[in-house]
Amino acid sequence: MPKLNPHFSALKKSYLFQKIAEKTAAHQKKRPQNSLINLGIGDIQKPLIPSCVEAMREAAVSFAKTETFQGYPPAEGYSFLRNQIASFEYQKTISPEEIFITAGAKNSCVEILQLFSSENIVAVQDPSYPVYVNGSLFSGMDLVYQPCLEENDFIPKLPEKPVDIIYLCSPNNPTGKALDRKALKTWVDYAVKQQSIILFDGAYEGFITSDAPHSIYSIPGAKKVAIEIRSFSKKGGFTNLRCGYTVIPNECQIKGVSLIDLWRKRLHSSFGGVSYPIQKAAEACYFPEGKKELALQMEAYQEQAAFLKQKLVALGYTVFGGIDAPYLWWKTPQRIPSWDFFEQILEKGVITIPGEGFGPSGEGFVRLSTFASIDKLQEAASRIQKGSLCVI
Ligand code: MLT
Repeated sequence: MPKLNPHFSALKKSYLFQKIAEKTAAHQKKRPQNSLINLGIGDIQKPLIPSCVEAMREAAVSFAKTETFQGYPPAEGYSFLRNQIASFEYQKTISPEEIFITAGAKNSCVEILQLFSSENIVAVQDPSYPVYVNGSLFSGMDLVYQPCLEENDFIPKLPEKPVDIIYLCSPNNPTGKALDRKALKTWVDYAVKQQSIILFDGAYEGFITSDAPHSIYSIPGAKKVAIEIRSFSKKGGFTNLRCGYTVIPNECQIKGVSLIDLWRKRLHSSFGGVSYPIQKAAEACYFPEGKKELALQMEAYQEQAAFLKQKLVALGYTVFGGIDAPYLWWKTPQRIPSWDFFEQILEKGVITIPGEGFGPSGEGFVRLSTFASIDKLQEAASRIQKGSLCVI
């Protein structure tokens, strides 16, 4: 009889977004006439840009001919896409060989842990994307939480005891806080001193409007200690198509062992690669027309975030985020527990995510995704305003 992975018992009964879906379904069963506005999971709402659609169509059509048909994709990704990323995202400060095309950031954030022993201690921002916690737990690793509190401008403090692996998400999901150069440098210096590895999740870097760094590699020394994980999901509208990339610099080593070598072994042993049409669509994001189309889309998303934030602030609420991320971090009035506040807002027909679901320090907040259209956000604000939500 196989022995089960005992570490699954450390996980909560259901994954946060699953729990929200269950609660939403129960609400809808109770009140089928209520149309809900989904500001819960951060899923894109605008269609794929024409450049990506056309690139994917052409790639699909090319499969019909013997001369242009493609078999297995390279596990590391096609060089046409790795070259574009090296040029446009990293101005060639990272080589294409250090870039690996993936099926998205969520997978990569967990799979990268396979390079490390279960005896490691992992630090996570609290609150943070639940995938880091769950992935670390079912890998059998110990966790420490680095609170990101309002009084510290949501910047995590350094751990009191040494840690081996550090997840940093900037701009942070859920607080929307992008770490500035000083904060990032503090963490890179810590990792260099402690010989820790930073797993830097930059899935939301495309949303940055402040002068916060987009890449951890803009901090001196980071190439030795950081792996950067990025995604086309939100920035390119690929949540369904699934494509991202992971950067492992050659200098990133532990006791003389290059992590890039381990990652290549892991890739060739267990990853079939990302399909040609999807990588062609991702490549189109870097062509002049694609860049223009994406910039317009991003501008619209940024306007949506600013719009809802301004509406809630005008209603007298305290709201963070929305400047460098598509998420608003809404402080619950009178410290109402986040799950209670979530229920109150759900009653009004708006789905949010309780902050506690992202970690203990998320208590007292709810997260709002602002991917919905301005009309929907306006309607959500009106529903929130109407009646007695709570006293402010
Ligand atoms: C979120 O809502 O936090 C994200 O959309 C979830 C994800 O990217 O997996």
